Amino acid sequence: MDIARTPAAPDGNPYLADAAPQPQQPAEIRRADYRPFPWLVPATRLEFALGIETTRVIATLEVEPNPSADPARSIRLNGDGLTLVDLAVDGQQRTDDTIEGNDLVIALSPGRHEIRIVTDIMPARNSQLMGLYASNGMLCTQCEAEGFRRITFFPDRPDVLSTYTVVMRGPRGQFPILLSNGNEIATGEDGDNHWAEWHDPWPKPSYLFALVAGNLVARTDRFTTMSGREVTLNVWVREGDLARTEHAMESLKRSMKWDEEAFGREYDLDLFNIVAVSDFNMGAMENKGLNVFNTKYVLADVETATDGDFDAVEGVIAHEYFHNWSGNRITCRDWFQLSLKEGFTVLRDQLFSQDMGSAPVKRIEDVRILRGVQFPEDSGPLAHSIRPDSYREISNFYTSTIYNKGAEVIRMMRTMAGEERFRRGTDTYFTRHDGEAATCEEFVAAIEDGADLDLRQFRLWYSQAGTPRVTVTQSHEGTAACLTLRQSVPATPGQPDKQPMPIPLRLALFDRDTGAHAGEQLVVLDRAEQDFRFEGVEKPPVLSINRGFSAPVTIQRTIPREDLVFLAATDDDPFARFEAMQELVTGYLVTEITGNAGDDEREGALADIAGAVDKVLADPALDDLMRGELMMLPSQSYLAEQMEVADPGRIHAARELLKADLGGLLASQLRNAYDRVAGVPFSLDSAAKGARKVKTLVLTYLAASDAELAAELAARQYHGADNMTDRQGALMVLTGLDTAERTAALIDFYNRYRGNALVIDKWFALQAGSLHPQAIEHVKALAEHSDFTLDNPNRVRALYMAFAGNPQAFHAASGEGYRMIADLILALDPRNAQTAARFVPPLGRWRRIEPGRAGLMRGELERLAASPVLSRDTAEQVMRSLG
Ligand code: PHE
Ligand code: ZN
Repeated sequence: MDIARTPAAPDGNPYLADAAPQPQQPAEIRRADYRPFPWLVPATRLEFALGIETTRVIATLEVEPNPSADPARSIRLNGDGLTLVDLAVDGQQRTDDTIEGNDLVIALSPGRHEIRIVTDIMPARNSQLMGLYASNGMLCTQCEAEGFRRITFFPDRPDVLSTYTVVMRGPRGQFPILLSNGNEIATGEDGDNHWAEWHDPWPKPSYLFALVAGNLVARTDRFTTMSGREVTLNVWVREGDLARTEHAMESLKRSMKWDEEAFGREYDLDLFNIVAVSDFNMGAMENKGLNVFNTKYVLADVETATDGDFDAVEGVIAHEYFHNWSGNRITCRDWFQLSLKEGFTVLRDQLFSQDMGSAPVKRIEDVRILRGVQFPEDSGPLAHSIRPDSYREISNFYTSTIYNKGAEVIRMMRTMAGEERFRRGTDTYFTRHDGEAATCEEFVAAIEDGADLDLRQFRLWYSQAGTPRVTVTQSHEGTAACLTLRQSVPATPGQPDKQPMPIPLRLALFDRDTGAHAGEQLVVLDRAEQDFRFEGVEKPPVLSINRGFSAPVTIQRTIPREDLVFLAATDDDPFARFEAMQELVTGYLVTEITGNAGDDEREGALADIAGAVDKVLADPALDDLMRGELMMLPSQSYLAEQMEVADPGRIHAARELLKADLGGLLASQLRNAYDRVAGVPFSLDSAAKGARKVKTLVLTYLAASDAELAAELAARQYHGADNMTDRQGALMVLTGLDTAERTAALIDFYNRYRGNALVIDKWFALQAGSLHPQAIEHVKALAEHSDFTLDNPNRVRALYMAFAGNPQAFHAASGEGYRMIADLILALDPRNAQTAARFVPPLGRWRRIEPGRAGLMRGELERLAASPVLSRDTAEQVMRSLG
């Protein structure tokens, strides 16, 4: 039809229209520019004529002026790649409205109107996996953040809430199952086609819309909510996968129960559907009543999933379910508020997982993720606050900062208020803002009121990026222990100067003779420098600080090694004990890497570490899950963070050497530990999980010190395994060794699991992430493997994310690793921009890497920048990384 078009860049990509070879930055969107949408859309009706090649969408929007916005004479509806077939307003066909760029702008007089839009879309050609797309013969949608505009023209922003009615029509044989949000209210037949009508009574933003059509089967169960509502639960998968859905279903029921108990939140529909999809850009999506999941976070059984996979399934199921309140009932006003739902929901899923398993171990794992991913982000070119002031492509802001630091910030509120008052705060938030699109500021204000907490200065955590550094100086005056705490927040892009923030630090002062302390205290450091005095302390105590990781900061202190040894062995806070081990090892490795230690010093430090690990191996009071945490060396990325400029080659070598030294010094103790845990029979309880964790960790030490023994034990573990945890752990160790057992096990694994995509992903990832000196060659060969494809994000990540996270391979001094990642980005970007852009940050670390490699990394970024066809996603990340 004849709609006037203003010239626009094809595909909405400004670069394609640009004459200059250097891409410019895509337009910047600013938080300060927020204005409410001039129209309300109380009701939306969507009719789909489903087809894999072409789907026709008829959208009927009821619109009326928004009383709390400035009046407008037109309505701007977002679109992306749509073919407009027909447009009518109040029953009158329209031809004189305009397409501006990607948007459809329709002139409207004040008052209520009905807009009817007919569009055609092509799901089979949708390789971006945003909007409506085909996956394995089924149709499914992904709309967050801005995918709905790829389905129909709509005000595609989270503050426009509408009630949806959805009719899906299609060939019954091809799409026997038709699902959307809410409840099914009618079905019917016409010839080979059938149709289903769904209605969701809860107003929602377009990003929570979902539709699934395909040949699926369900595991069905029921849950009775706290007020007695009966809810039907379904987990939908392809037929062959049904046996692997039990854990997901059990996790869902546990999540529903927990949210009632811990936060007073009840489910609000009669039906809750989860669908597993094998082509998915992210982990999962919280669409109202119809969560869509990456198969990776649904399917699990003992034969094919590790203990880590089981935990991840449980955590992600919980996360998406919890979004029903923190995200759906209360959504975000705009995408700058993303952490309102994500930070809070991550905290909720972390607390849930703490309650379901070992709380201290879960806390340590979460801190490890924060330090391994978020801290580097916060100290690099992509640093941003948890509530950013601007963005160019919102997909790039689904970051560890928004998610994990966002959770830490809310956790600090909880620590300062205490559990009970915090609960009053969240109750206030949920009741005050139910049904609204809210802001982070409103969240903070609700916690402030409900928990009776003064958060005025604390709000800085929302606006300032960068990981604060706290320097600790300890002294003693008579019978008083004195602490001087200083804080500084490093400069980050666009934020040269920072103000001091409130930093809650849990601490304890140990008597070094009795090993006891007089009780834990909470101090809040809220100035640049502050003194704290603790009376009645006879002699200088051993300081345990930031216990439980009460604040997401870096602690800097000079502490005698013997104090760390003391804390590693005796601290009653498991996190602090873990931290002391990490500090001990980090101190040693940093000195090794920078080459400053004398031989005596070196021997003494190594003996202390070996002694501490020995105690960890022998301590009968430790459970094996915790023992495993204490045995783990700090990651290479964490070590790199400790240095202004890092040499990945030296970090890797020093860390491997320490493993070999420890493996040698503790050979018999490690061997004994292995034999003990190898005798624990399989079960899913935490004792047996702990045994499996220690088993593989012991092998990683032995692999460094005695490759032959390690290969023998690992091969036996591999072939004798009755579960995936043992099998994958053994294969991981073997993959790093240059032995015949390696080849045999890799062939066996492939043949055993060929056709099981999630397990074959492990096979790719283990080789790409391995310690093998030829890992880079293996990756090149695997990229040519017939099972490798750029069309499946899980497969791409399995090979290339594992590779980008393998320091010795990715940082090969030749620069080959960098070139491979840049080549991947160029190949993937036109197909799946979101996934491609996620490979830029590893290259963006160049400023913190030694000059030789830094130049090579920067060179690859410049090569990317010179491409005339970069997506908005990738262009933004490349430009920011070049800085
Ligand atoms: N909102 C999803 C989650 O956290 C993540 C997601 C974002 C999924 C964008 C798809 C697309 O739970
Ligand atoms: Zn989420």
